[in-house]
Amino acid sequence: MRSSTHDASISTRLASLPAFPRLQGKRLHLRGPRAEDADGLFSLFSDPAVTRYWSRPPMTERGEAEGLIAEIDEGFEQREKLNWIVVGRDDDAAIGTCTLFHFDARHRYAEVGYALRSDLWGQGLAREAVALALDWGFRTLGLHRIEADIDPRNDASRGLLQRLGFVSEGVLRQRFFVGDVATDSEIFGLLADDWQHH
Ligand SMILES: CC(C)(COP(=O)(O)OP(=O)(O)OC[C@H]1O[C@@H](n2cnc3c(N)ncnc32)[C@H](O)[C@@H]1OP(=O)(O)O)[C@@H](O)C(=O)NCCC(=O)NCCS
Repeated sequence: MRSSTHDASISTRLASLPAFPRLQGKRLHLRGPRAEDADGLFSLFSDPAVTRYWSRPPMTERGEAEGLIAEIDEGFEQREKLNWIVVGRDDDAAIGTCTLFHFDARHRYAEVGYALRSDLWGQGLAREAVALALDWGFRTLGLHRIEADIDPRNDASRGLLQRLGFVSEGVLRQRFFVGDVATDSEIFGLLADDWQHH
């Protein structure tokens, strides 16, 4: 029998979070959402370059960004999703999102997702943001494994994951419909031990 000590601690740690933890990097911070993030989130998710391989089509109305903030709040209240807003360190304005979700307390894994404003790509900012979330997930929450699931054509996402030490673990054929097109899904995994030695 496996010990249940960790199961309890992951659920307990999630349940006992009073609010989104603020994670501080050199150039950016991760924090919980605010009503005034709607413009930044709309500009992020209405950009077809950002949503090209995303699970939802580009936003067309600001109200959708307000709806997203409500969903993020709800996901946090249920402790199902920690969908951080990525903000500039100095101006606190939304430039992206980074999410830990699909928590499995029994097996101590979760999934990670991320998006960054396209005019800021290529400067290592996503690496900084995702590293903060991974570090928190492994060290503070006590996760054993973090997974990511990408469209195999998404070279930027693959490059980011590999740069962070994730290993490609296989392709699930035609797993998702993006519009009418059945697309493959490539699974990446990172273990706490990989992260420690990264
Ligand atoms: C994926 C995404 C977050 C990367 O953001 P970014 O800030 O440009 O990434 P970084 O600059 O931190 O790059 C980190 C590493 O990824 C790799 N990388 C980034 N862009 C790449 C590209 N276009 N092609 C190949 N590798 C790339 C590089 O290896 C880079 O490491 P390096 O800086 O040592 O060269 C960004 O492209 C994005 O928001 N895409 C749209 C949303 C999305 O598809 N999210 C993923 C859904 S699964």
